[in-house]
Order: sequence, then structure tokens, then C-alpha cells
Amino acid sequence: MEAKITLLPGDGIGPEVVAEGVKVLNAIAEKFNHDFSFETALIGGIAIDETGNPLPDETIVATKNADAVLLGAVGGPKWSDPTASVRPEQGLLKIRKELGLFANVRPVKIYPALATASTLKPEVIGAVDMVIVRELTGGLYFGKPQGREQNGNGREAVDTLRYSEGEIERLVRVGFELARGRRKKVTSVDKANVLASSRLWREIAHEVRQDYPDVDYEDLLVDACAMHLIRRPADFDVIVTENLFGDILSDEASMLAGSMGMLPSASLAEGAKGLYEPIHGSAPDIAGKGIANPLATILSTAMLLRTSLNLPEEAALIEQTVDVFLAEGYRTPDLAYHGEQPLGTAEVGDFIAQGILNG
Ligand code: NAD
Ligand code: IPM
Ligand code: MN
Repeated sequence: MEAKITLLPGDGIGPEVVAEGVKVLNAIAEKFNHDFSFETALIGGIAIDETGNPLPDETIVATKNADAVLLGAVGGPKWSDPTASVRPEQGLLKIRKELGLFANVRPVKIYPALATASTLKPEVIGAVDMVIVRELTGGLYFGKPQGREQNGNGREAVDTLRYSEGEIERLVRVGFELARGRRKKVTSVDKANVLASSRLWREIAHEVRQDYPDVDYEDLLVDACAMHLIRRPADFDVIVTENLFGDILSDEASMLAGSMGMLPSASLAEGAKGLYEPIHGSAPDIAGKGIANPLATILSTAMLLRTSLNLPEEAALIEQTVDVFLAEGYRTPDLAYHGEQPLGTAEVGDFIAQGILNG
């Protein structure tokens, strides 16, 4: 098949890990006789440096013309002045809004070979297999008013947590639909004991639940959920939650898998259009060293193939090759344990690409 994929490498380790994702997609194209064409566009800090805008119009056009988008990461200390009016992260929020990417699907899977890479005990994380479905285009990230002012209280700032019933309903439905193809359990996470937006969230979730009598359901308050993720992580199947709670809980959950460098994600709109990205950021502390773990991005390309291009066999081959890679004991530094000689970013991509061609 022919497919157009827009690449948004971004900042820090973004370009390093996206290069490995492209290597893997090229190997898939060669193996299965597909014709993937790539267009690279600017987002984030590099876009600010080159155009003054974290999301230039050409980037929006390039992503709208594509069948799918693969993103690295944005941001870094160079652009982190809290008083700056233009920031890399604005580019990411805007592309999510422009493409209508309201559902961010973040699977958390434990590779048996990494059972000792987590800081948690192997017997606690052994059976973990969950998906966090994070609302991505609403909540505190987008609510108005947002900003700061100088008034009688001195410096004051405001963010607004606002959700409409339609935004909640469509997100919760994504979770129930996913659960039907899995272990049939949905956990809805909110802060309904304090927040009005969470009480609406819970009310809508209970209404949607009526349409899925075959799926088990539980409500959890977000603070307790943060604890249960460490205490009984294997009990979770699908978690649905609002934007900021999902952001925080998924970084927490990444440590079940052993590293931020392991978690892929799909940001989905209505229909097949999607943007695929690792959940991690630009990792300024390791950028430019060639040691970032590209597996989260490589696993994101598998999600891209399965979800936006309807190529499940190709997706499965990538995932199986990652399995083999880890089972054979290869590691990047974020996963390596004492005494192991870790591989660099490009070596991991080479290994996976070669494994696909041989597979
Ligand atoms: P981060 O995810 O970039 O890094 C957190 C820690 O995890 C660091 O120690 C880093 O080295 C490590 N890490 C992350 N990805 C890794 C990988 N692939 N391999 C090995 N180690 C990895 O979070 P941060 O440091 O809080 O944020 C840095 C910048 O990234 C900020 O500007 C933030 O806004 C941005 N950010 C962007 C995205 C995105 O573009 N989607 C996501 C999160 C953070
Ligand atoms: C993520 C990141 C982003 C978010 C930032 C960089 C805007 O943390 O993709 O998880 O908070 O959504
Ligand atoms: Mn995040």
C-alpha cells in the first residue's frame, strides 16, 4: 500500500528516536512491499528558532495531508523561561487541537525480560497489561480563562478546568470499546469529591456504562489511583481519565514497564487519523549523546501501522521483534542493570530493522 507519513522530530532526543522509527518503517516497507513516503516538518523549539512559531502553518498542512503523523518530543531548557510568551509545548497542544486528537491511548505492557528493570518487585508487576486512555484536547490544558495578571494581589495566574458532556462521553466510549476487546474492565479516574468537572465526568461515565453491561466498571479518585497503580497494577485493564490526571498517571505507570523510554502512544481523532508519539519528552539530560531508548517510538510506529494504516501483521512483527530484542538481553542505558554493556539509540534501531527483514 501507499501511505504518506509526516514526521515531526521536534527537540532534544526527538530527532534521535524518530530516526529509528523511520528505520523500522522502512524495513517494514521493504519486507511487505509497501510504499511509505515521509515528509518532515517543524514543531516545538526548533520551529521557534527557525520561524518564531512553535507550529508553523506548513506543519499543520503537512499533517492534515498525511495518513499518519509520527512525533518525537518538544521542549528543552533553551525555551523554558517561565516568562517567555512563545513556548515549544504550545506547538504540541495546538497540533492536538487542530487534528482533533481527543483520545490519547497509552498502553502499559510489561515485557517478561524487563520484570527486574522496574523499581517494583517482579511479583507485583508480572501480569501488568493496561491501557490508559487520556482525554487530550480539553481540561486544564485548554480551559479559558488562562493566563496571568498583575492586580491588587500582586502577580496572579489562572487556569480553568472545563469539560462539556460531549467531550467526556466520546472519551469514555473509546475506553469501553477498547475494554471490549481486552479484559472487559474500565476504571474511570476523577476527583469527584472536590471538583465539579469531575462530578460531571462521573455522571457521564455512569450514563455511558449503561451501554456496556458486559464490561466491569469502577470509579477511583485520582489520588487513590496513584497509590493503586503501585499497589495492585495488574488489576487495571482500561483507565479513562481527564487530560492532566492522565498525563501524570501515565508517567507513573511507565515505571512499571521499567522506563519512560518504553511507553508508546496513539493520539486519535474520530476516524483513522492519528498522531503517534512516545509518552516521554525531549530528555535534555541525555540529548545528543546517542543513548536514548528508541523503543517507545518504535512501538509507536507499530500502533501507527495497526490503527491508521490497518496493517496488523506488520505491527505485530515490530512488537515481536522488540520482544526478541529484550529477551536476548539487549538494553539501552535506562534499562541496563549493573554490569551490562548497553546499546546506543542507532544500534537498537539497526537491530530491530534487521530483525524485521529477517523475520
Ligand atoms: P522527559 O520525559 O523528557 O525526561 C524525564 C526523564 O526520563 C529524564 O531523566 C530522561 O532522560 C528520561 N527519559 C525520557 N525519555 C527517555 C528515553 N527515550 N530513553 C531514556 N531515558 C529517557 O521529561 P522532562 O525532563 O520533565 O521534560 C523535558 C522537556 O520535554 C520539557 O520541555 C517538557 O515540556 C518536554 N516534554 C515533551 C513531551 C512531548 O513532546 N510529548 C512529553 C513530555 C515532556
Ligand atoms: C506529554 C507531555 C505534554 C503534555 C507536554 C509537553 C505539553 O507531557 O505528551 O505527555 O502534558 O501533554
Ligand atoms: Mn507527559
